[in-house]
Amino acid sequence: MSSVLIEGKNIYKEYRSGLTGLKHTILNNCSIIVYTGETVGICGPSGSGKTTLGRILACLEEPDSGEIWFQGVNLTLTSQRIKNEIRKKIQVLFQDPGGTFNPVRKLEVTMNRLLQLPGVTLPKGGWEEVLHDVGLQTEILARYPHEISGGQAQRLALARILLVKPELIILDEPTSGLDISVQAQILRLLKDIKKRDLMTYIIISHDKDVLSFMSDRILNLENGTLKLASQAV
Ligand SMILES: Nc1ncnc2c1ncn2[C@@H]1O[C@H](COP(=O)(O)OP(=O)(O)OP(=O)(O)O)[C@@H](O)[C@H]1O
Ligand SMILES: [Mg+2]
Repeated sequence: MSSVLIEGKNIYKEYRSGLTGLKHTILNNCSIIVYTGETVGICGPSGSGKTTLGRILACLEEPDSGEIWFQGVNLTLTSQRIKNEIRKKIQVLFQDPGGTFNPVRKLEVTMNRLLQLPGVTLPKGGWEEVLHDVGLQTEILARYPHEISGGQAQRLALARILLVKPELIILDEPTSGLDISVQAQILRLLKDIKKRDLMTYIIISHDKDVLSFMSDRILNLENGTLKLASQAV
């Protein structure tokens, strides 16, 4: 049995509606355990809180109560410095990565900026190697964000994430905006990367076929909590 990578314990999160001021409970006593090397799928109706849960696990948002543990460290109690370190180990691939690239700059500017982050360096083979791993060529860096396709944007977003060397990638509807053949290519790529880097994934999707293809276990988020929906045998 491999070790626990991340655990969310009894997470509670509510939002207050801007219009009525009424509180709306999104996550209620929600718990999840993900083991190193697993792919855990999360499904559930639109608005059930899947993205909120993903953001809380990635430390992009605070829960109202409950705890997040990553590799044995309680993130709710730890110092900001350690939290920042751990935050880098948990990356999120969003449905529409387009917005994460500066629209008025060539992609090379945005990508090179990443290298200013502490601990982020190019491998020996440079950008060519980084981009080759996600099925892209370096000429793409000379383009502007509006000059690349949705599939290429998703590949580039993935390249960016991989440079940071995460230990967990949360995939939030990673292929929803893509047509079916590109979707299949991206899912294959994610599987290949997982095998190569022994990556752990949490994948959020509406699409049962996507989840069955990718996941070792599928959890259903409904009424604020997660329940096992199915498990690969
Ligand atoms: N920052 C926020 N402020 C107020 N309400 C929010 C905020 N973020 C999300 N919500 C509300 O919380 C609920 C859960 O949203 P969330 O985006 O997590 O759902 P989801 O399961 O990811 O939905 P979808 O499948 O449509 O992506 C929704 O009702 C949403 O309107
Ligand atoms: Mg969502």
